[in-house]
Amino acid sequence: MLLEEIIKEIAICRACDIWEHYKINVPPEGNWTARLMFVGRDPGREEIEQGRPFVGQAGRKLDALLKSLGIDRKAVFISNLVKCRPLNNIAPPFARAKFCADRFLKREIEVVSPKVIVCLGAEAARYLTGQVGVMSRIRGSVYKYGEIPVIPTWHPSYLVRLEKMDPEAYADRAWEMYYDVEKALNMADEE
Ligand code: URA
Repeated sequence: MLLEEIIKEIAICRACDIWEHYKINVPPEGNWTARLMFVGRDPGREEIEQGRPFVGQAGRKLDALLKSLGIDRKAVFISNLVKCRPLNNIAPPFARAKFCADRFLKREIEVVSPKVIVCLGAEAARYLTGQVGVMSRIRGSVYKYGEIPVIPTWHPSYLVRLEKMDPEAYADRAWEMYYDVEKALNMADEE
């Protein structure tokens, strides 16, 4: 399957009414032969403006984390369950997110065939691991999507919010996310 085909299909997808609201789809980006893949939920305002995933506040958090681990953003693959921005940024029901992920993310994973996937937040974790538990319980554990190890961790948007609300808790969660991604990186290098 041609990778460009998936990107083209995303660009013209009108399969559900989420697209109606913003009329811009955000394709995944990064290295199509990456060992490490990150999956979030759906694009936010800045992502829609730029047509790129994780380029807003959450993306800057993710970039900083990658940098602190010596990972170049261009070396990994970054995607979302949903390719359009939901109206008022309200999380789409899981069935809707799954509908989109089944259409695109699933095929992206087949093509990229990463060594390890990091789920950013509960929705991606639910889709890829079937776990619906709270993130504090499932984060850092290794699940499987087919044969691919999957590690859920905090969503960077949550860290952005927490930093302002509760700096102490933020420091703990930020370290946890660091350890989770470091673990994924080490596993990806070993596989
Ligand atoms: N949050 C996500 O889950 N994905 C993005 O692309 C941006 C913010």
